[in-house]
Amino acid sequence: MSICILGIESSCDDTSASILCDGIVLSNVINTQIIHSKYGGVVPELASRAHQQNIIPVVAEALSKANKKLSDISAISFTKGPGLLGSLLVGSSFAKALSVAISKPLIGVNHLHGHIFTHFLRNQNELEFEAKFPFLCLLVSGGHTQIIRVNNYTDFEVIGTTIDDAAGEAFDKCAKVLGLGYPGGVDIDNLSKDGNSDRFKFGKPKIAGLDYSFSGIKTSFLYFLRDHIRQNKDFVQDNLSDLCASLQSEIIEILIDKLIKAVKMTGITEISVSGGVSANSCLRSKLSEIGEANDWNIYLPEKRFTTDNAAMVALIGYYYYLDGKTDSLDISPQARIVL
Ligand code: KG4
Ligand code: ZN
Repeated sequence: MSICILGIESSCDDTSASILCDGIVLSNVINTQIIHSKYGGVVPELASRAHQQNIIPVVAEALSKANKKLSDISAISFTKGPGLLGSLLVGSSFAKALSVAISKPLIGVNHLHGHIFTHFLRNQNELEFEAKFPFLCLLVSGGHTQIIRVNNYTDFEVIGTTIDDAAGEAFDKCAKVLGLGYPGGVDIDNLSKDGNSDRFKFGKPKIAGLDYSFSGIKTSFLYFLRDHIRQNKDFVQDNLSDLCASLQSEIIEILIDKLIKAVKMTGITEISVSGGVSANSCLRSKLSEIGEANDWNIYLPEKRFTTDNAAMVALIGYYYYLDGKTDSLDISPQARIVL
């Protein structure tokens, strides 16, 4: 009999449900809450309310797209953290109630653990991913920027992390001052395609070891614009694509410089990238180029699995289920758990 996991993700502003059977993604429904765009960032109270409205329809759609019934489900896995507490409470309470209602086990999953394994996700008719451990994962999202040494499915070590902002946050905050939408990473990526990435420089941070810092580039970008707008009030409009391309290129250089250092320090040349920023076209092509030039194996997740999704939560739930690791009903979400 198939092992079918229902995954539920509600850590931030995406309400998502997925059905994964025997390691294959049968459905992955994501409802991205658009209400936050007019505020230029996620409003936690509104996010919880929207999850509350979305969760039942999203789960129903995931079941229907997978052509499965609740009675086909072997276990329910949900994101236990990190994230916004109110948002996490909606997903976890729903998962607990469903677990009692259908008498099936409950599995709490660390959201970051899910991101690390997104390149393992496979669709029907795709061959099983041949896992090679250890690998290094560059996890870059709106909330995290980390280099992780992954030893096996459940054993990993963070070897580098940001000491302030995440790379996605730098994209989003700079996009905001350019007057672009939220989250701004995608807009910067698109506008960069017509821009000259060598035109402007904003200054790279000097941080020891494998740690990152992105607050400096954000501030220098802001001051740079302020100074130029004083001389030309249309500076942003006149130079938008060059500004985006130059900023993007510098953020990506910062990300890749430390990754190269991590490879030198660990000797590991199996490299994956994950999280929302891993959708960035320039990051993906630069990594592929470097991989080819240096004989590293680069693993890029499918674009639809880069941002928050429940398929990654279901996959980790599946590994735990195979190991017989389930949680009791007193599990409660934690906004600030680490890997
Ligand atoms: O993983 P994710 O969906 O949510 C978090 O857990 O944070 O990542 C969202 C982040 C946002 O900062 C967004 O601007 C960024 O991913 N992002 C991108 C691109 N697509 C999404 N950044 C750069 N280029 C993109 N194409
Ligand atoms: Zn995420």
